[in-house]
Amino acid sequence: VFNHLVRAPEDPILGVTVAYNKDPSPVKLNLGVGAYRTEEGKPLVLNVVRKVEQQLINDLSRNKEYIPIVGLADFNKLSAKLIFGADSPAIQENRVTTVQCLSGTGSLRVGGEFLAKHYHQRTIYLPTPTWGNHPKVFNLAGLSVQTYRYYAPATLGLDFEGLLEDLGSAPSGSIVLLHACAHNPTGVDPTLEQWEQIRQLIRSKALLPFFDSAYQGFASGSLDADAQPVRLFVADGGELLVAQSYAKNLGLYGERVGALSIVCKSADVASRVESQLKLVIRPMYSSPPIHGASIVAAILKDSDLFNEWTIELKGMADRIISMRQQLFDALRSRGTPGDWSHIIKQIGMFTFTGLNAKQVSFMTNEYHIYMTSDGRISMAGLSSKTVPLLADAIHAAVTG
Ligand code: LMR
Repeated sequence: VFNHLVRAPEDPILGVTVAYNKDPSPVKLNLGVGAYRTEEGKPLVLNVVRKVEQQLINDLSRNKEYIPIVGLADFNKLSAKLIFGADSPAIQENRVTTVQCLSGTGSLRVGGEFLAKHYHQRTIYLPTPTWGNHPKVFNLAGLSVQTYRYYAPATLGLDFEGLLEDLGSAPSGSIVLLHACAHNPTGVDPTLEQWEQIRQLIRSKALLPFFDSAYQGFASGSLDADAQPVRLFVADGGELLVAQSYAKNLGLYGERVGALSIVCKSADVASRVESQLKLVIRPMYSSPPIHGASIVAAILKDSDLFNEWTIELKGMADRIISMRQQLFDALRSRGTPGDWSHIIKQIGMFTFTGLNAKQVSFMTNEYHIYMTSDGRISMAGLSSKTVPLLADAIHAAVTG
């Protein structure tokens, strides 16, 4: 009965890892997926995570019972505090409902399904470009996807006028997906002044902001600073949604731990929203897993563990910044044609190099360097040892 099926293409991001795994070359380098690697090129489990996991294992009072449909209460409360700030008026007034979901993707999907079912507008505007999975998540959730201008290839920066123009002409009530910080794939964020203008426009047109916060702590190295754009929108008393991921900032990729928060106008509405979110989640996966959320809750709850986390997080962010500088210097010293200053100006895990699909496939074929075809490289996958190889490959791709 499945004879008619054609083979589906690999995922544009995760498929890069599939191709990388098949390559027998000893010098191969995977700069595709946004996953942190150490200087030795190895995945990193944070010390604070190891420590908490040990405590969880030793605590024999713990069990593996189902947790509630909306997840662990502590985890939800503390996640809201992390993104909105401990003194957030929305939290103090109980206007926020937070549900534990399957990392950032799961949070976006639950939010999308909730909006498709209960919100009066079914159109969501995504930036161009955006994370490749965004359109798929929202289409399958039942929303209709439109785009707004975000990135200007000519300046390798933000197309702020284009953004304002496109959101300005979006039908009132439309949903707008915003990357909270460290825009994926471009590494280009609005300034706080620009965020304020975006906020005014969104509120004046009664658009509904839906933040994707996958990199809190990776843009500036500070969790609070990276949450500023979201907090700007909460401060005006309006509604919004936020999807949070702990994949990158706590390195909990495979644990699939994240949260969806919806800020409402009143505590009563928030509790009704939560009751409806349960109806979205229960038939989808019943309830979320216990382990990752227990780790996060333990770290967020304890000020010593929290401090340890922020130091390790800053360490990851700093290593990425140093990779940016090293790659920039290496291209400069090779005299590679072009202005590569965007490598040090862009922020977060990725550099949007400006290399085209042909140059990318040249680098993969000739140098065994794997990256997404849009020219995005994960700076977190680089090390001092591999920078020269990447610089050689870029130089050859650009001059060849
Ligand atoms: C990425 O963009 O590389 C990450 O968000 C990982 C993913 O799931 O695509």
